Amino acid sequence: MAPAVSAFQVLFAVIQLTTTSGLTSCHRSEVIKEKKKNKFSETMVHKPKNDSVPSVLAFGDSFFDTGNNNYLKTAAKANFPPYGKDFMGGKATGRFSNGKTISDYFVEILGVKEYLPAYLDPYIQDEDLPTGVSFASAGSGYDPLTPMSLNVIPLFLQLELFKGYISKLNTIVGEKAANHIIRKSVYLISASSNDWGITYTSVPIRRLEYNVSAYANLLVNQASNFAKELYKSGARRIVFWGTPSIGCWPLARIIDGGGLRVCGEKFNEEAKIFNIMLKRRIKILRSSLPQSRICYVDYFNIVLAILKNAREYVFLEIQALCESRSIHKGMTRYDEEPKTLRTMSVLEDFISDSYGT
Ligand SMILES: *[C@@H]1O[C@H](CO)[C@@H](O)[C@H](O)[C@H]1NC(C)=O
Ligand SMILES: *[C@@H]1O[C@H](CO)[C@@H](O)[C@H](O)[C@H]1NC(C)=O
Repeated sequence: MAPAVSAFQVLFAVIQLTTTSGLTSCHRSEVIKEKKKNKFSETMVHKPKNDSVPSVLAFGDSFFDTGNNNYLKTAAKANFPPYGKDFMGGKATGRFSNGKTISDYFVEILGVKEYLPAYLDPYIQDEDLPTGVSFASAGSGYDPLTPMSLNVIPLFLQLELFKGYISKLNTIVGEKAANHIIRKSVYLISASSNDWGITYTSVPIRRLEYNVSAYANLLVNQASNFAKELYKSGARRIVFWGTPSIGCWPLARIIDGGGLRVCGEKFNEEAKIFNIMLKRRIKILRSSLPQSRICYVDYFNIVLAILKNAREYVFLEIQALCESRSIHKGMTRYDEEPKTLRTMSVLEDFISDSYGT
């Protein structure tokens, strides 16, 4: 449920891995010279001159939830310490991270703004809306049973919230500008970890009813329908995050990792099967939705690489992470900035001016 790695490291991995192996399926690499100063800033993204990302809209689970669950009656919350211990001087905002979440880093890297606000935040201002919000809800998933078990926001409701957002946007900036924003926004979706990690593992009827590929198929159908609904509302630039290597999550190591707490193979195999099917479906979606730009982020290998190269990624607390007994303790922190930054290909794909005009 909680990200076992902080958003910061994941983004570095996105950047680093896309350099070498083209892990994203719409890879369009452009090497950026190594930076001495390793601070994220807009200058690192080579934006095509006449195009930009006006806004980021995030859907799905805890990887992108920036505080929506604070306003729900659910156990899936992160508005207490140690969450947020490195966020704005130690503020637990409901982000499932010690600091920012991945969705926050995306908006920062794209030069949109510093944080992605939670749509349900009652203090959200009209001027926050045109640059994007998060509809994501920790604990949610593609399987309709997943959000039910934790009483969090199901994807179909996130879509409804998105539609409400569009009407508000029309009022705030006018219809023409709103249409432009909706079309040019980057849509981030991460929503399968809890299906595999919680529902398929702990709700026996799912495993009895569905074998692994049948369950993966159910999830992929949901993902595909979700993308089609976004598309109908005007979305064109959609980024799907695959299932990470959930077998390496602390809880999976305890259940399935033996005495040494290695990564649980069973969980990882299931995630891989799903990811392959999701990638295939994305290809189909791309060709069936004109002018769409739909990407797959290989979160699985990103997380694996981070775990393998903990030192390189400055995972100073990796050991503590893997030994913690609760997935809620999946916190990490970085103290030192990583050494290399090469490409921003995933992001660059979405700021390309050759699509979705
Ligand atoms: C940007 O747009 C302007 C006006 O539409 C055009 O004249 C210019 O050549 C464009 N620049 C690039 C780099 O495409
Ligand atoms: C999984 O279930 C589906 C449909 O219920 C079936 O067609 C398929 O053969 C099963 N696969 C395996 C490996 O058992």
